[in-house]
Amino acid sequence: MLVNTKEMLENARQGTYALPAPDFVDLDSARVFVKTAERLQKPLILSYAQALENMLSLEEAAAIGCLLGRESSVPVALHLDHGMDREFIGRAIELGFTSVMIDASDKSFEENVRCTSEIVRLAHDSNVTVEAEIGHVGQGDNFASFENSESVYTMPEEAAEFVAQTEVDSLAVSIGTVHGIYKNLKSPVLSFDCLHKLAEKIQVPLVLHGGSGTGDDNLHRCAVEGISKINIFTDFLTAAMEQIQKDSAADYLAVKRAANRGMADVLEHYYSVFAGN
Ligand code: 13P
Repeated sequence: MLVNTKEMLENARQGTYALPAPDFVDLDSARVFVKTAERLQKPLILSYAQALENMLSLEEAAAIGCLLGRESSVPVALHLDHGMDREFIGRAIELGFTSVMIDASDKSFEENVRCTSEIVRLAHDSNVTVEAEIGHVGQGDNFASFENSESVYTMPEEAAEFVAQTEVDSLAVSIGTVHGIYKNLKSPVLSFDCLHKLAEKIQVPLVLHGGSGTGDDNLHRCAVEGISKINIFTDFLTAAMEQIQKDSAADYLAVKRAANRGMADVLEHYYSVFAGN
């Protein structure tokens, strides 16, 4: 069934576990994510990023997500990841997305509050939940070409004020991850101190972007110490390529089968890493 993220994220927050939010790029990846969630009987936040619009249009993503979500035996939220402008986000809501992110994290606090509040009013009228970001998780052109972190850590007092002013449903915070691969680093050093302060001050579910390459120990700690949703993208692409090579897939259908298996394994793995103690 297709739902918004309200209940699934509140359950995760209360239960001190996190839900994975994988970004899909086509019908295959979306279907793999939904089928894996069904096999494990877990809720899913099926995400589509505006930045990938040239690969899959918003209309195509909505058609795929609504169909798979409606037919699914587990709760599926169809989520717009990194929505950048009101027009695109408004269209996503009209097309049936049940959850949207407004990313105005590169703007001033006041401008971020203004943009987010506008989307909250629009989305809540349609029973759609809203995620916003404060602080800034650095990002490459396609989530996979990241060179230098331009991340800005989230300040707990400012974040609490932001939630109070915007009435946003969940909040993406920056505690040391980046989108894409970590150059020259096995895994990043996260500020758990910052996460504890955020979790103490903020009463809505917290979201971590840039999950790929962050390391299982870091991500498990995030899930049990205050994060309720973890976004993953690059690790699915890497796993798909590795499986294609491992299988020496020699024709197009074999390539697709191998890629699907690689992505399913990663999602299953992260469901178990993000589970509570
Ligand atoms: P990664 O590609 O680092 O997993 O980041 C994904 C993400 O945060 C999408 O919003």
